[in-house]
Amino acid sequence: MPIAAVSSRMLAVTEEMRAVMDFAQRVLEGDGLGPDACDFMFGNPQEPPLRGLVDALVRHAEPQDVHWFGYQKYDALARETVARKLSETRGRSYEPADIAITAGGFGAIAAALLAVLEVGDEVIYPRPGWFAYGAQIRGAAGTPVAVDLSPVNFDLDIEKIAASITPRTRVVVVNTPHNTTGRIFPRAQLDALADMLAAASERHGKVIYLLADEPYARLVFGANAHISPAESYPHTLIAYSYGKTLLAPGERLGWLALGADMPEADRMRLREAVDIAQVSHGWAFAGRTLQRALPDLEKLCIDVTALERRRDRMVEGLRAAGYDLPVPEGTFYLIPRSPIPDDMAFAARLAADGVWVLPGSVAQLPGRLRISLTANDVMVERSLPVFAHAIRQVAA
Ligand SMILES: Cc1ncc(COP(=O)(O)O)c(C=O)c1O
Repeated sequence: MPIAAVSSRMLAVTEEMRAVMDFAQRVLEGDGLGPDACDFMFGNPQEPPLRGLVDALVRHAEPQDVHWFGYQKYDALARETVARKLSETRGRSYEPADIAITAGGFGAIAAALLAVLEVGDEVIYPRPGWFAYGAQIRGAAGTPVAVDLSPVNFDLDIEKIAASITPRTRVVVVNTPHNTTGRIFPRAQLDALADMLAAASERHGKVIYLLADEPYARLVFGANAHISPAESYPHTLIAYSYGKTLLAPGERLGWLALGADMPEADRMRLREAVDIAQVSHGWAFAGRTLQRALPDLEKLCIDVTALERRRDRMVEGLRAAGYDLPVPEGTFYLIPRSPIPDDMAFAARLAADGVWVLPGSVAQLPGRLRISLTANDVMVERSLPVFAHAIRQVAA
């Protein structure tokens, strides 16, 4: 029997990413986006980075001794900063030893899954949702189980999650505020999920972990507030990324926190497992300059008021043109319905006029479009007539 050139695990990961990778490839193979293009695709920055971010990186890159860039897993001040911030904002006492500094949210999720999954263990994750969950779960030798959010208002469907739990379920992922719908799950839903998971853990004689993926925790609009599932369920691992808050996703900084209410014995075991997961999967700790800069970076955030204004302008402009879309409570995504069922074709039509969005079909949202508000205001204004023209054309 011929032996494949690559591992079956990576082939499975590739399949999970196929739709989005093929889309990205087609974009790259094209003639380029063009000088006046409006890029709403992948949440990449379209404005100069925060000056404070640049200054902090420069400041902390300057070596003060010969060991400056030597191996080190964690910068003590970085862990303390995160633990203090969590303790201040979440009404519970977080310990620095329970904070792992990671290469962004990807790194935090990988470390969490690697630390707790047996080969083949099932991980429930939301659909629609971030495109990389399936891949990350397969990469950690788990089995992805997508469970749909309620189609009405994108709430968690606790009954559906309960019905999807089997003796192999080890982790349930909750992403709030939610990429792609912008939904912030209310406390009552998180409490109901917690009760259900506690009962299921008891029934199956093992802990089912909740992985709270919270990279958009600070990107919330109006009177909305982020609510962490960790406040409802003790066996929660919190994953965070500075990539969204600083809008600098190419600088890889994030953390994984063990829930403050988790029994100490479990936290002790998890600390070591998370560390070893990071070592064994490529010394995946965040680099030293970023870790040193973390206390400065923690104080920075993109202008959420400006982001909210952009959200409002875009929602108003799209609705005036005839698009149907919900108003996100947080994150930086809009998900209008595609005026024609074939969202790929509609996205291609917009792209022909210089407006690039993610077709819903590659983001588990068939029949919709995903618009990332990381585009700048000039792009927003330039794009609105194109959106209006495109919907008129297909209606004609
Ligand atoms: C829900 C969610 N989780 C995790 C991540 C990963 O964040 P990062 O690229 O900063 O590691 C993203 C990025 O888009 C995301 O949307």
